[in-house]
Order: sequence, then C-alpha cells, then structure tokens
Amino acid sequence: MRERWHSRTAFIMAAIGSAVGLGNVWRFPYVAYQSGGGAFLIPYFIALFTAGIPMLILEMGLGQRMQRGAPGAFGAIRPKLELFGWWTVGLSAGIVIYYSTILAWSWVYLWHAVHSGWGDQAESFFINTILQRSSGPAELGTPLWYLVIGMALTWATVFLILRKGVRNVSKVVFITVPLPLILLVVLLIRGLTLPGALDGIRYYLTPDFKMLASPAIWLRAYGQIFFSLSLASGVMIGYGSYLGKRAEITNSALITGLANCGISFFAGFVVFSMLGYLARVQGVPVPEVTASGTGLAFVAFPIAISQLPALNSFFGIIFFVTLLTLGIDSAFALQEAFTTGVRDKWNQSPGKLAFVFVAIAFPISLIFITKGGFYWFDIIDKWICDFGLVAAGLGQCLIVGYLDRVQDFRVYLNEISEVKLGVWWIWALRYVTPAILTVILIVNLINEFKSSYQGYPRWATWIGGWGVLAIFLLLAVILYKISSHTDSIHNKEK
Ligand code: PHE
Repeated sequence: MRERWHSRTAFIMAAIGSAVGLGNVWRFPYVAYQSGGGAFLIPYFIALFTAGIPMLILEMGLGQRMQRGAPGAFGAIRPKLELFGWWTVGLSAGIVIYYSTILAWSWVYLWHAVHSGWGDQAESFFINTILQRSSGPAELGTPLWYLVIGMALTWATVFLILRKGVRNVSKVVFITVPLPLILLVVLLIRGLTLPGALDGIRYYLTPDFKMLASPAIWLRAYGQIFFSLSLASGVMIGYGSYLGKRAEITNSALITGLANCGISFFAGFVVFSMLGYLARVQGVPVPEVTASGTGLAFVAFPIAISQLPALNSFFGIIFFVTLLTLGIDSAFALQEAFTTGVRDKWNQSPGKLAFVFVAIAFPISLIFITKGGFYWFDIIDKWICDFGLVAAGLGQCLIVGYLDRVQDFRVYLNEISEVKLGVWWIWALRYVTPAILTVILIVNLINEFKSSYQGYPRWATWIGGWGVLAIFLLLAVILYKISSHTDSIHNKEK
C-alpha cells in the first residue's frame, strides 16, 4: 500500500513548503528590484500563469495519475522515458547537496546572532571569517570545522524528518510553513517602523515600464518562477504520487502557486524596508546598499540587524531561524523526490533510504564548505538551474504535450478537480512554455559562450558546470539500466 498524506491540507502545506524557500526571501526581491521594481510584477505574474501554474498542474497531476515518482511516471508514458525521469530526480539530488550549504551557513550565523558576532563589518565577516574564501576555485583547502557542524546539523535534521517517510513530512510542515511566515511578519513590523523604510519600499514598487521592453527581464521572470515553484526537479511529481487516486489537483496547484508568489511579494516588503533603513544609515541610495543575492541574506540583513537600536540578538535569531525553517522543507522535498523514485522501484524502507542518501550526500556536500567551496557552489547552482532545470522543464512539457494523451489527461483532471481546465492548458504545455524555455536556454548558452560566468576560469566551469551535468546523465543511465534489469528479472519470475 502506497504511503499517503494525512490530509489534503498536509499535501498543500508540503507543496508550499517545498516552493517557499530561500528563493522567496532573497532571490525574488533582489531580481525584482534589478528588473524594473514594480513593473517586474507584470512579466512575473504572466510567467506564473503561462508557465508556472500549467506546469504545476502537470506535475502534481502526473504523479497522482501514475501513483509514481518522476522515473516511474515518465516510464508509464513510454518505458524508455524512465531515463528522463531519473535525470530530473538526479538534478534534485544535486540541488539538495549544494542547497544544504546555505543552511550550513545559516546555522553558523544563528550561533553568531546570539552576540551579533559580525560587528559592523558584515561583508568582511561573511567572506573572510565565515567562508574564509580562497583566491579562486583551484585553491580548495579542507572543510571548515564550524561549517562542518552546520552541515551535520542540516543533514541530521533532514534525516530525522524523512526517516518515517511522508507521514512525518505531513506533521513537520505544519511547523516549517507557518513559523517563518509569522517571523517574517515580526521582521516586517520592525522594518516598517525604522526610519528610511519607505524609501526602500518606494524603490521596490515604483514601476519602470521601460524595462519591460528588454527580453532579459522576461527571461528572468520565467527563471524565477521556475526555481521558486520547485518545477522540473521531480519534487511535485513525487509529492503528487502520495495523493489518493481521486484527489483534487487543479485547485491545489493554484493555491500552491498563488501562495508562493504572494509570499515572495510580501517578503519584498521585509527586505526593502530593511534596505531603505540601511541606505539611510549609510547615507547612500538604496541600490548601492548591496550588490549580490547571497549578499542580501548574509551581508545586508546582518548589517541592518546590528544597526537596530535595540533587541539586536533577538532579531538576528529570528532572521536566521526564518532562513532555516524556510530552507529545510525545500531541502527534504528535494531529497524525497529522488528517494521516491528509488523506492517505487526497489521497495526499500524510507528510513534505510534516507540514511543511505545522507551517508553519501553529506561527505560530498563538504566540498562546498572548503575555502574554495563557494566558487563551486556558485558554478554548480548556475548550471543546474539555468541549464539542467530549464532543459528538464522543456522535456517535460514536450513529453506530456505530445507523447502522452494530453486531451484525456485534461478530461481526467477536470473529473477530479474543483477548478476546470480550459484548452489553454494544452496550448501552454505544447506551445507557449516550450517556446519560452527554448529561448531561455539559447540565450543562456550564448551568454555563457560569449563570456565565462562571473569570469571564472573555463576549466572550472567545464568541470563544475558541464562536467557535473554529465555526471548526472551518467547516474541516470546507470539507474535506468539497473532498473530495466530488475524489471526483466521480475518478468522472468512471472
Ligand atoms: N523553490 C525553492 C526555493 O524557492 C528551491 C527549490 C528549487 C526547491 C527546486 C525544490 C526544487 O528556495
């Protein structure tokens, strides 16, 4: 008997938990203010409705219909497509291995928040004290001991939660979803009552419609929707597969998509009220406060916190607990996408699989917390998201749009769902989303070949970028071969 969610609410909470993560708190606000502020909301919401929601429905619906994680679900469309399914869940295994790095940093920051350990040198604290960043990717060094502790805490938490499978996830998400939201409200109230906060908010919301003419803005909107809704990584397929046969899909997908984007929009107010305050204190314009996405969470926030007139440790602790609770449910969703695929095939207990996964992933993740680890983290993140996920998303739309009986799929979804899907859904999967993803992929490729990402040496992007993607392909082929072998043994026995 397949495991089940406790309730529909538990499923929706878990889906929101996976979607809402660090991508909402630092990535969205940052991308928005670089891309036209308030005007960015237009391409962003168009991306949500033309690609995000249709794909979310596809993924949750496919998992539910096939009662399998991504490898089994695609294998049920055409046996050879199981290979494609292994590729998508391989990416999710890859993401969780480096995503854990951000959580490891957060644990260490939580410790320093107790006494505002970064002082007034937050940037140098992040780069020189915490990361001890080396001069380049060639100079790796050994893992830093305090980050090893943070990393161990991260994996131990993931293991403890996944040990009992999705039944446990059903309970945990009732803490990890609402808690960071409440904490964000606390931070927002603090932020809005600081001098300069309104300058920040104005900067965030003032639309610059001229920016909409630039294709790059549209690409960023689609990229952000993709990452933020945890699409193309097998996560939502795996989660959908634990729904009962007649469970509602379309409305659950709508709720998940809208809640995720609403939370991103909301988080923007928190971040920009703090940035506005920081700009006032430092006497600089808002856009000059920080330059990078990572910098926002680990540089700008710590500065803002240490500048607060009172209760600094309290707000520091709240901020890093927010980051940890936001990230942890995305992390275990990613791991679960992979292990669901394995469990469908080889029927191992959740506890054993969670253990084996962590035992392999933890040592690999130590690479990212060496002195040169930050560079590898950055390269692998870029390649997996911009090339791996986009390619997987494209493949997914084409497979379901053309090889699966998509008309019947729509009828099926309409039978079980509260909201009825029009033919627009099929158009989105067949034409609109594939066309946009193809453009994104080509533009990313051209950019990469024009100039090396962040000016990293070419050998590093070949190893960390294309090399890592090739390893995942190899892993997918191996798993696919073993799985076909298992099938043929089963068939002989029959
Ligand atoms: N959606 C998560 C976030 O916003 C990240 C993620 C990507 C999770 C892909 C799962 C799969 O942080």
